Amino acid sequence: MVSPPTNASNGEVAVFGGQSGDITRNDDLLAGSRHQSFAEAVSCLGTPRMAGATDRAGENERTMLDREGIARLHDLTGRVALVTGGSRGIGLAVAQAFAAQGAKVVVSSRKARACDEAAAAIQEAGGEALSVAAHVGEPEDLRNLVATAVKSFGGIDVLVNNAANPLALPIGEITAEAFAKSFEVNVRGPLFLFQACLEHLLDSEHAAVVNVISAGAFLHTPGGSLYGAGKAALLHFTRSMAAEFADQGIRVNALAPGPTDTTMVRKTGSRAAASMAQSTRLKRLAEVDEMVGAVLYLASDASSYMTGQCLTVDGGLVPAR
Ligand SMILES: NC(=O)c1ccc[n+]([C@@H]2O[C@H](COP(=O)([O-])OP(=O)(O)OC[C@H]3O[C@@H](n4cnc5c(N)ncnc54)[C@H](OP(=O)(O)O)[C@@H]3O)[C@@H](O)[C@H]2O)c1
Repeated sequence: MVSPPTNASNGEVAVFGGQSGDITRNDDLLAGSRHQSFAEAVSCLGTPRMAGATDRAGENERTMLDREGIARLHDLTGRVALVTGGSRGIGLAVAQAFAAQGAKVVVSSRKARACDEAAAAIQEAGGEALSVAAHVGEPEDLRNLVATAVKSFGGIDVLVNNAANPLALPIGEITAEAFAKSFEVNVRGPLFLFQACLEHLLDSEHAAVVNVISAGAFLHTPGGSLYGAGKAALLHFTRSMAAEFADQGIRVNALAPGPTDTTMVRKTGSRAAASMAQSTRLKRLAEVDEMVGAVLYLASDASSYMTGQCLTVDGGLVPAR
């Protein structure tokens, strides 16, 4: 374990990345941040604390996280979350979970009817949801998606770039058209949607972006190079977005799912799906709800000190290769 250097005389912690010899107190550093501090995030809803639950560690008095505090970290009450590919599969599970956590959810995919049905199901369960059809590969659709979301819900706090094109071809058969089709949806779409959301994310005190990539960004799979390269590109954009907007209060992270039981996998056929399941350490496909915890973590204040990272939720697929 590597411990940060301390000033032996007063116990203050030197912060990595500062000027040489620069010993800076964390309080001072937090004061200038556009991000809501961790303590503010935990206490913002005002639930009473556990009596006497304070921890005195030197001069850093803090209130211990109690059950309500931990729940508040995952609470999305009042936040507006836009989920592409929210009409089925992983995106639908995420949209439903966000709504259950109090978010106003914008469900988007190409098919208006599928979006309407997903939004109606969320509303029936007591959540707030809006249906907006949009093709992620069409820049005009993306502008309309953001404008409609903001007109109805007043802003955007959370963006989940989840929709994707699964086009698979051997390298020798990739055409210019196939390349364009894949990258328009898997790379250009998430980038332009982030751009279209930018002014609203900058206005948010809880701005969080989750780009859904794939374990396939890290591995070779037969026919999977086009898809994998696009997902690897989106991971790079994730890191660049995080770096360029960290000081303006926008956190950007990625989720890399492994093989998950959705239409995307079922369409490859039962033999291919079984083979994908066997390639994981856990020897099974994921259920869509097994992606929810990671996305909720990345979208909420629970991950307030995390940006530019990728969470791989793949049943041990990448470590197994
Ligand atoms: N399932 C897996 O094993 C797996 C593994 C790794 C990563 N992922 C990633 O997880 C994400 C979700 O995948 P999934 O398995 O849940 O897929 P899915 O069940 O096939 O759902 C895809 C969703 O995206 C929408 N969509 C597709 N193309 C679109 C486009 N051009 N514009 C807008 N919406 C579009 C679909 O609705 P419409 O048809 O109405 O457009 C649907 O809502 C994707 O980014 C995928 O790459 C999945």
